[in-house]
Amino acid sequence: MKTLMISIFLGYVLSSTLKFSPHKWTKVILTHHWPETFCTIEHCKANFSYWTLHGFWPNHGNECNSSWHFNASLIKDLMPEMRTYWPDLLNPASTAFWKHEWLKHGTCAAEVEALNGQHKYFSKALELYHKLDLDGVLKKSQILPSENPYKLADLEMSISDAYKVTPKIQCISQEQGGQILGQIEICMDRQFQLIDCEKTSEELWSRDNEVLWLALNSSSIYSVCDPSVPVYYPLVDTLERTKAR
Ligand SMILES: *[C@@H]1O[C@H](CO)[C@@H](O)[C@H](O)[C@H]1NC(C)=O
Ligand SMILES: *[C@@H]1O[C@H](CO)[C@@H](O)[C@H](O)[C@H]1NC(C)=O
Ligand SMILES: *[C@@H]1O[C@H](CO)[C@@H](O)[C@H](O)[C@H]1NC(C)=O
Ligand SMILES: *[C@@H]1O[C@H](CO)[C@@H](O)[C@H](O)[C@H]1NC(C)=O
Repeated sequence: MKTLMISIFLGYVLSSTLKFSPHKWTKVILTHHWPETFCTIEHCKANFSYWTLHGFWPNHGNECNSSWHFNASLIKDLMPEMRTYWPDLLNPASTAFWKHEWLKHGTCAAEVEALNGQHKYFSKALELYHKLDLDGVLKKSQILPSENPYKLADLEMSISDAYKVTPKIQCISQEQGGQILGQIEICMDRQFQLIDCEKTSEELWSRDNEVLWLALNSSSIYSVCDPSVPVYYPLVDTLERTKAR
């Protein structure tokens, strides 16, 4: 009986280690950010009136292949689109942001064939960004930048009605009360089928989950929005404020 218990226990440990092996990611996160919010914090001048890409991140692994250098000439044909939809908000003329994303996340995403190269990685992210059309989804449900706040539940409903999965919505809290909408994550499996972004209890308990550690390290300026606090979706400074008048 004791041996049986031990082997069941070992079997469980083995299967969970395999399932959450650090070399295999299970989920890839397409992260969109609202440039106005980012630039309020980082003091940049964004002037983008739509959601842009922040990243395309597997849930396991960081800097998986240090020998796989970023080479901007491999994605030359994607540059106009990259500058429009995946811009470096801090330094628009630079390619350093994409280099960072490739080295940190792309080299890990490369584990699946559909993403095993720089052109594949960046073009797949752009393709999914267009296919999801988060900007269009929000507009369709009348969720537009405004001086009046939204309820988090209304934002969530707009997105989950469109995609039939739960997004992760992140905010920056304000000292004077309220929170500012900052980032929206949409999650997919290894075949790019949409899945809920919420962590399952299994994932929460997996010690290999670097995304969790990252969250615990709170290196990000964003945190998951508080459902009990009004959410501000800021107007784009120059453009819409003048239009709204
Ligand atoms: C912002 O972009 C709009 C159109 O995209 C342009 O007309 C406007 O001049 C830009 N404003 C600044 C301050 O760059
Ligand atoms: C690591 O990068 C090199 C290119 O520098 C590539 O040839 C190799 O296949 C990569 N290894 C893995 C495991 O992706
Ligand atoms: C970058 O890629 C181009 C096009 O494939 C190639 O000609 C060039 O040698 C590469 N540069 C480096 C530094 O690997
Ligand atoms: C979290 O912080 C610790 C200590 O600062 C650091 O060693 C570790 O690499 C960090 N993990 C991640 C995923 O950033």
